[in-house]
Amino acid sequence: MNPLLRWVTKIIRFFRPVPMPVAAPEAQPSRPAEIVRTEPVVETPAKVIPTEVRPPESQHPLGVLREEEPRMSSVAVAVPDDGSTLAEKGTVARDSDGYQRQVTEEPVIKEELPAPEQVSLIPPKKVESDQKPSRKTVEKPSPPPADRTEPVPPVEVKQVPKPIFTGRVELTPDLDNPARLRQIKGVISVNDIANRELLDLVPYEPGKPVDDVAREIGLDPASIIKLASNENPLGPSPLAMAAMHKAIETSHFYPDGGGFHLRNAIAHTFGLGRENVVLGNGSNEIIELLFHTFTRPGIHEIITARHAFAVYTLMAQLFGVHAIVVDDADFTPDLPAMLKAVTPQTRLIFLASPNNPTGTRVTNEALDAFLRDLPPHVIAVLDEAYYEFLDNPPDTVGYVKNGAQVVLMRTFSKIQGLAGLRVGYGLAPAEIANLLQRARQPFNANSIAQAGAMAGLADIEHQTKTKAITDEGRRVIEDAFAKMGLKYVPSSANFIMVNVGDGGEVFKRLMKKGIIVRSMVSYHLPEYIRVSIGTPEQNARFLAELPGALEGLVSFKPLEASGVAVAVLSGGQASETSTEEKAPSLGTATATSEASSSLS
Ligand SMILES: Cc1ncc(COP(=O)(O)O)c(C=O)c1O
Repeated sequence: MNPLLRWVTKIIRFFRPVPMPVAAPEAQPSRPAEIVRTEPVVETPAKVIPTEVRPPESQHPLGVLREEEPRMSSVAVAVPDDGSTLAEKGTVARDSDGYQRQVTEEPVIKEELPAPEQVSLIPPKKVESDQKPSRKTVEKPSPPPADRTEPVPPVEVKQVPKPIFTGRVELTPDLDNPARLRQIKGVISVNDIANRELLDLVPYEPGKPVDDVAREIGLDPASIIKLASNENPLGPSPLAMAAMHKAIETSHFYPDGGGFHLRNAIAHTFGLGRENVVLGNGSNEIIELLFHTFTRPGIHEIITARHAFAVYTLMAQLFGVHAIVVDDADFTPDLPAMLKAVTPQTRLIFLASPNNPTGTRVTNEALDAFLRDLPPHVIAVLDEAYYEFLDNPPDTVGYVKNGAQVVLMRTFSKIQGLAGLRVGYGLAPAEIANLLQRARQPFNANSIAQAGAMAGLADIEHQTKTKAITDEGRRVIEDAFAKMGLKYVPSSANFIMVNVGDGGEVFKRLMKKGIIVRSMVSYHLPEYIRVSIGTPEQNARFLAELPGALEGLVSFKPLEASGVAVAVLSGGQASETSTEEKAPSLGTATATSEASSSLS
């Protein structure tokens, strides 16, 4: 090529724009750009426990065809150390906090919600009234037809389920809208948003505390005796007190939520395994766990006796569960009648023996027959808060060992004298105990209570002394009632119920004298009081003040005439001096008209 032409060509090439390298086209989303949809994030391994352990009622083997509320399919729940059962299945892992969690193969599906403004740009697709919104599915937009010219219709990104609100929506339809609720707050009462079951509840009435009486009556607390809550008049076990003092030093740590040592100790005492023992914040909490575990509001039922411990029906009301109350004509639970009351909806039968407030027990034979005939869909809850006071007690632990459908409720509040610690326990076949464990709070038994209870359990001497003083005190008081001609219910526990004509009035009169007993008005027995058995001195003081408190309310023989009061006051020897007839059964004692005004 001509050199001149070559140079001209070079110059032209130099100034010509150089073509840029073409970038590979980015993967385009298969949906309109404004739609932000996030795929479910899958995490493995997951720690999940399916909460639905039964088929829905409609498929239930019992054939109950009632609709239930939808349940969550799965939720992560802490499971305390339950021993071998879960571990054997290879489904248990231990967390850093020492708890066991059941591990399933099921992955956790986490859905990331689009940011609110992104959602608001897209009008939600209408859902048919009978079409249930799905939590997990995110519909992909179907591609528009090729020849379509109009704009792509808005596409549903996600159906966010509305929160379930169970209050009285008919009053204010906006109550399930938190923003609206904030606006109208002030014109509605909190009662409008509270659970109806709670609003109708008459709270449990406990025995009056010494401090309250001291304040109200203006008495020195030290001069007041409390015979109102069936507590231990000897106080806590001394071994328990020493253990509790030591436990205070490490009270900056959370307690052992699994209650390893205490559950082991209890299990060892009864020849059971740790997996048979559930700790409660008092045995009252075991009642609550039973409701959580076996009942559904508005569907299931419980059965109890008319004069049973009040907390069973109280809890039933709180849980929205129907309670069938069976008459107990002589204050003793009628077990055959309770069995007859069972329906397909029955899940729990509560039976306290000895029962509070009546002090009555069922015979071992009656209990045996009752458990033999119990239908398989019902759990018998044997409340044994006062079991240790029984003579000839039934071998109820044997029922647990044999895998019967029972839960025994026991407590450290009575014979161990640790009511203030709030620690009790349930004993049950492992399958049942395992379910109850799931329902409880992780740290329901505090560390000081666990230490005190363990030592108290081992303090046989304290328990033996308590039983002896209770037996003796009960005999003295029942003898006195019999001699006075008062109607009382022969007791197998550490308290006695007696007819005083007007329980509320006698309660007040005795309180003014510094003696706290329990009026039975809340048990619909307004003529009765219940008195706990105290020390010999406390019993003597009660018997000395009783005649004055009865004046004008009920007929009775003066105590002096029988010599019982004199004997009691002179050192608790009443039992030796009173050799008269055995205490009559309820209704056989005849009140006399010898009420004397000189007794006050
Ligand atoms: C029959 C009965 N069960 C259970 C309890 C509850 O006892 P705690 O919660 O103190 O263990 C009591 C308490 O008085 C009771 O009388």
